Amino acid sequence: MTGDVRPVLKVDQLKAYYQVYLYGMDREVRAVDDVSLSIGRGEIYGVAGESSSGKTSLIKAIAGAIKPPLRIVSGDVRFDFGDREQNLYAMSPDEVASIRWKHLSYIMQGSMNVLNPVRRIRHSFVDFAYRHMKVGKAEFIQRVGEHMQRLKLDPSLLNAYPHELSGGMRQRVTIALATILTPDFIIADEPTTALDVIVQRDVLTMIREIREEMGSAFLFVTHDMAVHAAIADRIAIVYAGRIVEEAPTRQLYAKPLHPYTKHLIASLPRIGDTKERPFLEGRPPNLAKPPEGCRFHPRCPLRMDICSKQVPPMVAVEPQRRVACFAVTGGAV
Ligand SMILES: Nc1ncnc2c1ncn2[C@@H]1O[C@H](COP(=O)(O)OP(=O)(O)O)[C@@H](O)[C@H]1O
Ligand code: SF4
Ligand SMILES: [Mg+2]
Repeated sequence: MTGDVRPVLKVDQLKAYYQVYLYGMDREVRAVDDVSLSIGRGEIYGVAGESSSGKTSLIKAIAGAIKPPLRIVSGDVRFDFGDREQNLYAMSPDEVASIRWKHLSYIMQGSMNVLNPVRRIRHSFVDFAYRHMKVGKAEFIQRVGEHMQRLKLDPSLLNAYPHELSGGMRQRVTIALATILTPDFIIADEPTTALDVIVQRDVLTMIREIREEMGSAFLFVTHDMAVHAAIADRIAIVYAGRIVEEAPTRQLYAKPLHPYTKHLIASLPRIGDTKERPFLEGRPPNLAKPPEGCRFHPRCPLRMDICSKQVPPMVAVEPQRRVACFAVTGGAV
């Protein structure tokens, strides 16, 4: 859990850029720019931030799913699944394959690209997990059925075709698929974004139960601050490729420190409140040419001279709380 002395994941000063050719010039889109974080065993760690802030790119870099134009510029990603620490970027493709699904698994936004659309759902389980489980076919199918029941899903769903299920049920089946090998660490990219609020609640309950039953840790990415409030133990707020604040969920919502976090939380709809929500001027920066200094400065109501000249460092302001803002931590030079 939070505060575990041996985290399951440590990311250290990670930079991952897209190499693109734009307007006749080579450019770098700095989608992940100097990100450090660590996630404890069984912890649900939320990553929040608006669209195009670099959340999916961060996930790709952490999962080792790097292909051009994305490249790792510098930094480390280390996993510790209980026996030893492994540096993802120093591992051979075979070693990476050996941790995938068994220790490290994914839940994606669109379930259709994981489930084979023209075959019954049980075939997707076979394709995905059979060779990892080292048991006979009959026992395998029995175990899959037990796993479904554990997750409160009817095992007869295994005989259905994906298109016969509702979007919410398909997403829950996908989560069953992602967790069949009881992985230590699960990356979820906007897993509830396409679902209505009622179904979202079921999916979040399912994720919490998986954490309780299997002790899996989650890296849970969504732009939706209401979903984070319901599921995350700790949250990192990302703005333009950088973490600007990190805190336990309760503290973050009770007392946001960074001006951008304050804006995100103030924008949350509240039941019965008809007041107009605050509007943040300007747009998120172009990551091929991000602003100097604090990337939030062109939109920040508290900006000072130093903000456009220096990058505010991440400073620990309380145990488990970090923030990168000169207005909060003082304009150290
Ligand atoms: N294949 C790509 N080539 C070039 N730029 C990309 C590519 N994929 C994403 N980007 C850029 O990287 C930045 C971060 O994108 P992304 O990680 O998808 O953000 P998020 O998941 O927070 O919406 C954006 O500026 C986006 O345009
Ligand atoms: S460092 Fe400056 S510009 Fe950036 S969030 Fe803080 S006050 Fe605003
Ligand atoms: Mg994304």
